[in-house]
Amino acid sequence: MKKTIILDEANRYVERQPKLKDDFRQTFHIMPPVGWMNDPNGLCYANGKYHVFFQFHPYSAEWGPMHWGHYQSSDLINWTWQGVVMAPDKEYDSFGCFSGSAIEKDGKIYVLYTGVSGDRQEQILATSDDGIIFEKHGVVIDRAKLPEGAMVGEFRDPKIFKRGENFFAVVGSKTADNGIITLFDSKDLVNWNGRGVLFSDVENSAVSECPDLLQMRDKDLLIYCSSRTKNDEVCQENKYVIGKFDEKNCVFIPEKYGKLDYGDSFYATQSFIAKDGRVLILSWMHTWKDFYTCKYGWSGSLTFPREIEIQNGELIQRPIRELETLFDVDKGIIESNITITDEVAINGVNGLAYSLKLSVNCNLSKGFCVRLFARENSSALDLHFDKSNDSIAVYKDNKKFECDSFSKGARLKLHILVDKTSAEIFVGEGDRTLTFNINPSFMSDGIKFLSIDGKSTVELLEFYPILKQ
Ligand code: FRU
Repeated sequence: MKKTIILDEANRYVERQPKLKDDFRQTFHIMPPVGWMNDPNGLCYANGKYHVFFQFHPYSAEWGPMHWGHYQSSDLINWTWQGVVMAPDKEYDSFGCFSGSAIEKDGKIYVLYTGVSGDRQEQILATSDDGIIFEKHGVVIDRAKLPEGAMVGEFRDPKIFKRGENFFAVVGSKTADNGIITLFDSKDLVNWNGRGVLFSDVENSAVSECPDLLQMRDKDLLIYCSSRTKNDEVCQENKYVIGKFDEKNCVFIPEKYGKLDYGDSFYATQSFIAKDGRVLILSWMHTWKDFYTCKYGWSGSLTFPREIEIQNGELIQRPIRELETLFDVDKGIIESNITITDEVAINGVNGLAYSLKLSVNCNLSKGFCVRLFARENSSALDLHFDKSNDSIAVYKDNKKFECDSFSKGARLKLHILVDKTSAEIFVGEGDRTLTFNINPSFMSDGIKFLSIDGKSTVELLEFYPILKQ
C-alpha cells in the first residue's frame, strides 16, 4: 500500500498553505481547507467514524484533475481534516478520480469511484482500513459491461448499496437521446455483472449524474441530478423518484417524481446511514456557475447534513437534530405572538450564522415576507409567501425561485439556516427546501420581516446564533 508521489505532493501542498481566514469562510458547513470542492463522495459510517470524502482540486479554487479529500467525525458536527486520500496517479484515473461511494465490509472501507483517462470513464475499486490509506485495485466495471446504446465516455458516479446478500451499484450514463441510470450487481464487490438500464429520464438530455438508490421503510428512493448549458445558461436539476426496486428482476417501478431542492445551489446529493439508522444526505451547496469565492483561494461547501423521510408520499428533509449542539443558547431568542405590519427588524434577531424557525399566521393578511442578508435598502434573498396560491417565491439576483408553501390554514412554517454566504430554507415540515449561495459582496447580518396587505402574527420565533464548530 504505497503512497504515490502525486498523492504525497498534494498533501504537502495543502499542508504548506496558510490557513484561509477570509470573512466568507462558513461557520458550520464542510468546506475544502484550500482549493476547490464539488461533490460529496464515499459518505459512510465505518469503523466507528463518519467519513466524508469529496471531489477536491487542492491546487486552485477551480475545477481541475480530481483528487479525493477526506474529513472525519464522530458526531456529524465536528469534522477533522484527514488529508488528500486519492490522487489521479494511475493510468486509468490519470485525468481524475471522479465521484463515487463507499460501503463497509468486514471492517474495511470499499470505495467504487470513476477513473477517467482520455475519453474513458470506468469504475475502479479501492479499499482502506482507515479511510486514509487506500489501495487501488483497478477497473472492476469496464465499458464492456454497459448496456447497448449507453455512451462509453459518459459513465460515472457509482453508488454502492447492499440488499440481502447482494451488492448493487447504480451508475450514471446517457444514450444519444437522454440520461439513464445503469445497474450492476456483485456478490463480493470485486466481480460485477451488468444488469441493464434501471431508469431512463426522457426529459433529460444530459447524463444522469450522481445516482443513488436507497431504501426507506416500504419504499425506495432514486436520486440523481443533471447539468447542461442552454443559451449560455447552466441548467441544473436535482430529481428524485419514489418507487419500488425489484431486486430480483433488477427493475425500478416509479410511483412519484419530485425535485429535491428548489434553490439554485444544490447538486450531487449522496445518502448515508447514521449509526442510529437515520437516513442522511449531503449535497454540494453549489452549481456549475457563480464561483464567487475563488478569489479568496477556495470554492464550494456542502449542505448541512439533512435527515430524510417519506411521509404521506412526500419527501421530507430536515437539518439533523445535532444542529442544536451548535446553538449559542445564551443569545437565543424565543418569542411568541409578534404582530407585524410594516417592514421591521427584531431586536437581537440578526447574525451571520444562525438558525431561525418561524411559524406565521396570515389570517389577516395576504402573505408574509422574510428578507435575508438585509441592508438599509436591499437584501440578497427575499422570501415571499403568497397565501392566495399557497406558494413561496424567493428572489435572488432578480431571479425567482418558486415552490409550494405547505401552509396550513394560512399558517406558514419555515426553518432557515444561514451561514455567511449560504442559506438553506426548509418549508413546512421540510416538505420543500430551497438552497442558495450568495455573492460575498452581499453578505450582511440583517433580517427583516414584512406583512403583505394587512397584519400577520408571528406565533412562534426561535432564533439561535450558531457558534463556530
Ligand atoms: C457532478 C460531477 C460528476 C463527476 C464529478 C467530477 O458534479 O460532474 O458527474 O463525477 O462532478 O468532478
